Amino acid sequence: MYAVETKNLTRKFGSFIAVNNVSLAIKPGSIYGFLGPNGSGKSTTIKMLCGILELTSGSGSILGLDLARDGEAIKRKIGYMSQKFSLYDDLTVKENLEFYAGMYELHSAEKKIRMEEMLEMAGLQNRRNELTVNLSGGWKQRLALGCSILHKPPILFLDEPTGGVDPKSRRLFWDIIYQLAVAGTTVMVTTHFMDEAEHCDEIGFIYNGNLIANDTPANLKKKITGVLLEIPADNPMEMLQSFMEKKISVLDIYPYGTSIHVLILVEQLEEFAHYNYKIIPPSLEDVFVHYVKSKRKELSK
Ligand SMILES: Nc1ncnc2c1ncn2[C@@H]1O[C@H](COP(=O)(O)OP(=O)(O)OP(=O)(O)O)[C@@H](O)[C@H]1O
Ligand SMILES: [Mg+2]
Repeated sequence: MYAVETKNLTRKFGSFIAVNNVSLAIKPGSIYGFLGPNGSGKSTTIKMLCGILELTSGSGSILGLDLARDGEAIKRKIGYMSQKFSLYDDLTVKENLEFYAGMYELHSAEKKIRMEEMLEMAGLQNRRNELTVNLSGGWKQRLALGCSILHKPPILFLDEPTGGVDPKSRRLFWDIIYQLAVAGTTVMVTTHFMDEAEHCDEIGFIYNGNLIANDTPANLKKKITGVLLEIPADNPMEMLQSFMEKKISVLDIYPYGTSIHVLILVEQLEEFAHYNYKIIPPSLEDVFVHYVKSKRKELSK
């Protein structure tokens, strides 16, 4: 049984289709990274899976429980950290945990134990009486995570948990996610950071509401055929322009930081001999560009 499974999950807002026929199958105990540009439908998908938004059509299940029928039972199985953490700024750290413990109806003995565990996990034992408003991003984020897993949910949905958080806190947060996954928790996490996505067991790319790729990072990379070249460029846009003008046929070409990336057939390598290129393995960012472009081409046909 999958931890999360959807078939043609769809959500419309009026006539606008925010999530279009998304079919997912997430294995128990795995970390599933959900990637896509702004407005592509990540949060909407997660909200449907958490029972906050109704499905327009399609179906889904969480640990075999049906999204449309078993909403109440599902709520007890999941933890949800929303994109805008729902902490109360004017409550202390401890009071926020208490609030969530009450919401999950934890009994007093269990509540005490779990609150301590969460304070420890977040590294907030000594700051329990501080007002939440005074915590910086990374601390707030760990407190929000603690609040969302007080009831030991087997499935955890994290919607951009590391947005606006410094790199050190991001790493710390991911250490916690790995520990949860090792202990058996299934984690579905949205992120804009490709380095985070690299460490997921599987990745889904959503674009304009459509799931355009869904596989392990290694398999997604394998699907890029050809040889990928990195050519340093002082002005990547200018270099791109000059390639276009020369009408050199390539599989793909795009600016990438302070270089351009060119995807070619191995037979073409000679044509590029006078460029200062390096052959590189595709990163997830390359994979993402590739899928988005293929989808755009498909849509414009
Ligand atoms: N309640 C709503 N009413 C109308 N449109 C909505 C509503 N919620 C979301 N949308 C639209 O649906 C699309 C998908 O939004 P969603 O929040 O799921 O994207 P996202 O991938 O989470 O983006 P981001 O990376 O910015 O968080 C957007 O175009 C958004 O404007
Ligand atoms: Mg979002």
